[in-house]
Amino acid sequence: MSELPGWLRWPLLIFGGGMLLLLLLLLAVVLLSERRLNAAVSLQPRPPAIPMDPELFERGRRLAAGLLRCTSCHGEDLGGKVALEDSRYGRFVAPNLTTGPGGVGAAYTDADWVRAIRYGRDPQGRPLRWMPVADYIGLADSDLAALITYLKAIPPVRRELPEFSLSLLARWDYVRGRFRLSDAEQVNLELEPPLTPPRSSPAAYGRYLAKIGGCNTCHGERWNGARIPYAPPDAPPAPNLTPHLTEGLGSWSEEDFRRALRTGRRPDGQLLDPWMPWQNFAHLSDEEVRALWAYLWSLPPLPTAPEAQAKTAR
Ligand code: HEC
Ligand code: HEC
Repeated sequence: MSELPGWLRWPLLIFGGGMLLLLLLLLAVVLLSERRLNAAVSLQPRPPAIPMDPELFERGRRLAAGLLRCTSCHGEDLGGKVALEDSRYGRFVAPNLTTGPGGVGAAYTDADWVRAIRYGRDPQGRPLRWMPVADYIGLADSDLAALITYLKAIPPVRRELPEFSLSLLARWDYVRGRFRLSDAEQVNLELEPPLTPPRSSPAAYGRYLAKIGGCNTCHGERWNGARIPYAPPDAPPAPNLTPHLTEGLGSWSEEDFRRALRTGRRPDGQLLDPWMPWQNFAHLSDEEVRALWAYLWSLPPLPTAPEAQAKTAR
C-alpha cells in the first residue's frame, strides 16, 4: 500500500475491513442456519393402527385437501410443487409424497409418516422446513391414522422439481428469530395427543379443528390478529377473529363466516388474499364450520393486536 497517496490509505483500509466483516457475518449466518437445519433428534414414534378402510380413506382425503391443506403446498395430486417463490426469501419446494419416481412414499414406513406429520422431522430426525407441525401436533390418533391411510393409497406421480433455495435474508431472519422456518424446532415432543377428536360439544370440537387447522398460528394466540410467523414480510397480517363488534367478527353472521370459508368472500364482497387458505377450508363440512363458529363465539371480544393493524407493514 506504500505507493498509494496518503489521503487514500485510511478510507481504503476502513472500506476493506468493513467488507471483510460483512463477509464474515454472511458466512456465520449460512453456517449457523445450516447447523440448525441439520440438527437431528432421535425419535421413534409408535404409529397408530392404520387399517385400509374406505371410510378412513375418505376422512384422510378431506383432511389432506381441507383443514390440514397438505395440497396447498404439496400440490393437488400431492406429487410435489414449488410452494412459495418469493423475491426476498427464496424458493420453497414441497416434495413428492407419492410412490412415483422421486416421491418419498415408496420408502416411507408408518413411523416415518408419523415422524414427518406430527413432529416435522425427516426419517433421519432432521427438522423439515415449513411443515406446519405446531398445528399438526394436536392431531388425534384417529385422524392421523385416516391421513396416513389416504397417503399410502394415492396414485403415484412422476414430477421433476427444482431445488429448495433459501435466500440470505431468509437465513438472517431465521437465525435472529424473526422468521419461523421450521416448526419442528419448537414442538413439544412430550405432548400426548387425543385419541379421537373431542366431538362432545361444538365449541370443544371447534377448538380442536382450529388447532389442527392452524387458525391461531396465523390469527394469533389470542385470536385478535397477528402476522403470519412463517411468511415473508410482504404477506398481509391475519385479522382479528374474536367477536369484537367493530374490530373482529362481532357483526358477522354464521352465514357470513361460512361464505368467507367456502368462497373467500368477505361480507363486503372483497376477495381474501391467498395467504388465507380458504380454498382448502372450502372442503370443511357444515358440522365443522358450525363447530369453528361456535368456538370463535365463545372467545372474549378483543381489540385488534397492534402488529395486525398495519395492512402493509414494513
Ligand atoms: C406450508 C406448506 C406445507 C404444508 C401445509 C404441508 N407441507 Fe409437507 N412439506 C413442506 C415442505 C416445504 C417440505 C420440505 C421440507 C424440507 O425439505 O426441509 C415438506 C416435507 C414433507 C415431508 C417430508 C418428505 C421427506 O423429505 O422425507 C412429508 C412426509 C410431508 N411434507 C407431508 C405433508 C403432509 C401429509 C401434509 C398435510 C398433513 C403436509 N406435508 C403439509 C411444506 C408443507
Ligand atoms: C396461513 C395463515 C392463515 C391460516 C392458517 C388461517 N388464516 Fe384466516 N386469514 C389469514 C389472512 C392473511 C387473512 C386476511 C386476508 C386478507 O387480508 O385478504 C385471513 C382472513 C380470515 C377471515 C376474514 C376476516 C376478515 O375480517 O376479513 C376469516 C373469517 C378467517 N381468516 C378465518 C380463519 C379460520 C377459521 C381459520 C382456521 C380454520 C383460518 N382463518 C386460518 C391467514 C390465515
